[in-house]
Amino acid sequence: MLGDVSRSLSVEPDLPEDAGEPGGGQGEGATITPYRDGPLIVRGDFRLLDQDGNEIDPGRETIALCRCGKSGIKPFCDGTHKRSGFSAPSAPSRPRPAAQLLREGRRPDA
Ligand code: FES
Repeated sequence: MLGDVSRSLSVEPDLPEDAGEPGGGQGEGATITPYRDGPLIVRGDFRLLDQDGNEIDPGRETIALCRCGKSGIKPFCDGTHKRSGFSAPSAPSRPRPAAQLLREGRRPDA
């Protein structure tokens, strides 16, 4: 019985096959890439902190952060997004309202 449970849980964050080389390789800080229908892939020189400022050991140089909300190992992706049918574009389909206002030279809170 326990074997069935442990087989259904992933202890390693799920990385897309095309997540690229660990670390990003550019030496210019971190990059965060929202994968279509999947996680946020973080590469490069980054620190992962909880909201209290405590370091979270990422365990690897390239990580996948859950953005579907269904992972059993948040903040990391465990691949559940595939089974849950999570759908999201890689890039925004429209500009954020605040970003649009800033481009127009207006303050978002004005
Ligand atoms: S994005 Fe992969 S489990 Fe949420």
